[in-house]
Order: sequence, then structure tokens, then C-alpha cells
Amino acid sequence: MNKPNPKPSRRIVLRGLAAAGMACLTLGRAQAADPVKIGFLVKQAEEPWFQDEWRFADQAAREYGFTLVKIGVPSGEKMLSAIDNLAAQKAQGFIICASDVKLGKAIERAANRQGLKVMSVDDQLVDGTGKPIASIPHMGISAYEIGKQVGQGLLDEMKVRGWHANEAGALRVAYDQLPTARERTQGALDALKAGGFPAANIVDAAQAKTDTESAFNAANIAFTKQAGFKHWLLFGMNDEAVLGAVRAAEGRGFAADAVIGIGIGGSKTAQNEFSKPGQTGFYGSVLISPKRHGYETAVDMFKWITQNQAPAMLTLTSGMLMTRRNQADVRAKMGM
Ligand code: GLA
Repeated sequence: MNKPNPKPSRRIVLRGLAAAGMACLTLGRAQAADPVKIGFLVKQAEEPWFQDEWRFADQAAREYGFTLVKIGVPSGEKMLSAIDNLAAQKAQGFIICASDVKLGKAIERAANRQGLKVMSVDDQLVDGTGKPIASIPHMGISAYEIGKQVGQGLLDEMKVRGWHANEAGALRVAYDQLPTARERTQGALDALKAGGFPAANIVDAAQAKTDTESAFNAANIAFTKQAGFKHWLLFGMNDEAVLGAVRAAEGRGFAADAVIGIGIGGSKTAQNEFSKPGQTGFYGSVLISPKRHGYETAVDMFKWITQNQAPAMLTLTSGMLMTRRNQADVRAKMGM
């Protein structure tokens, strides 16, 4: 009987190992050489908050050496073609703040189909039943808490001005179809009520879109209907919503000292108001961090792509109330 010769088989094994090693090396090299490309898709590219987010994501791209593809996606159609476009450009993943969070499942499907990693920022994506899509990592603000800070800020300043609550109205610029917007204004409402503000004096103004003009139009109608109040507290989902309401109040003849508006954001929209020579009805804004939302999400995505290190599934960021008086101080405290 022929004794099997161990040598050739050992050689084959060795050769096999060497080949596998080479394959690993080649694969490793190919992966390292593949330029990393990350998309950053936002619903309202013209809004200063999103401009800031992009700026910080650009900073991450420079520091980590990847390409950032910034695309404005004001509609579902534009968004789906942007995702296809990213895939055609050989991007590996994208971060998105969608124009309609209910498109969550469609976004997840498109990303899976194209082999792209996806995470959301600002507005958490939901499924057909309105439930957050837990499989998509998300970074947003702690909406309800920040809303409570708005409400508390309104109450505190009202006290400083010595207003009687029964002479003041509170206007909630509402955009309830967006969960983060609803939670923000709910937080403010709850804080107002907890502080003894009369529930009957709280008025809703639903904005059709999330920009200053829509907020202005909604607030204008509400002010016309509620002509009896001497003073107004104004709040909404962001600085743009509150600014629209402030401009509408001015248009109806309310002086700056008869209005307290507190927004959420703290980017250019608020800064412009604070740098006007005189105080306007735009009293304050809860400063939130576009650096965390832009830089951190981009770095998270980069590490996910290059090191297969998945981001935290849910990160909620905090804010601090800022007014024209303490803005430098608050910015410094928030590391900005
Ligand atoms: C939403 C709003 C933006 C901004 C972000 C912050 O997307 O539309 O204005 O407030 O949330 O996360």
C-alpha cells in the first residue's frame, strides 16, 4: 500500500495559507485604498442650523481625510435620487435629516439596496405606524427637556418684567407632525402650566412649513383672533418659528418689551437678532450644538465604515438658555 506522502499535502496547506494571506493583504490594501465618501443630506440647506452642521462635518472630513458630499433634500423625491447618486459615486454611508420622517422605511430600504450605511440626525426616522426606527442610529436633541428650558425661561423673564399672567398670552407655534417639534413645544407648555401660567391663555398657531415665513403667517392669524392680551410669550420648535412670531407681533404693534420670544438653536438666526442695536421681542434661544450634530455624526459614520465600529443607537444632546446679555458666556460653556 502506498503510504501517503505528507510533504505535498503540507506544501499545499502552506501554499493555501500563503494564498489566503495574500488575499487578506490585497483585501486589506484595497479597503484602505478605497477613498471614504460620506453623504450629509439635510432637509433645509438654507437654514443656518444646517449650514453649521455641514461646516462641522466638513471639519471632520478634513481631520479624518474623507470626502463629504453635502446635498439638500427638500423633498422625498430629491432625497431618493440623492441616495442613488451617492451610491453611484461609491459613497459608503450617509447621515440624514429627512424632509419627512415618515419616509424612514423607504430610506432604510434604499440604503440597504445600495449597500450604504445610514444614520439620522436631528429628526428621528419613523416607520409607517409612527414608531422610531430603532435599527438606524440617531443623534437628536433632548427635545422635551430643552422645551422645558424654554418654558422656564419665559416664566423667569415674565417675572422680571412684572407682568400679570392674566394679561399675557402664550403663543405656541406648532408643527405637530414632526415628533421632535411636538416634544419641544410640549416641554415648554408643561413648564408654563407647572409654573402657574393660565392654560386658557395659551394659543396654538400651526405652521404649514418649518420656516420663518410660515411661522409669521400662522402667528399673524393667531394674533388677529386673540386681540385681548397686553403681552405675549412666544415659543416654537426652533429659532425660525419664534422669529416669525416675533415679526408678526411687531407687525401688530407690540413693542419689544411687550414680547418675550425664546427659540431653540442659537445659530445665525438668533445671533442676528442679538446683534441688533436694540432688544427685540426675540429675547433668547436655547443654544444647542451643531458641532456635536455635524462633527460627531460624521466621525461616527467614518469609524463605522473604516473600523466597523457602529455608532451609539441613540444620542440625545442638551442645550443652555442664551440671551443677548449672556451669549458669549453660554457659548464658551457649551464649548463653542
Ligand atoms: C430640527 C429643526 C432644526 C433644528 C434641528 C435640531 O431638524 O428643523 O431647525 O432645530 O431639529 O436638532
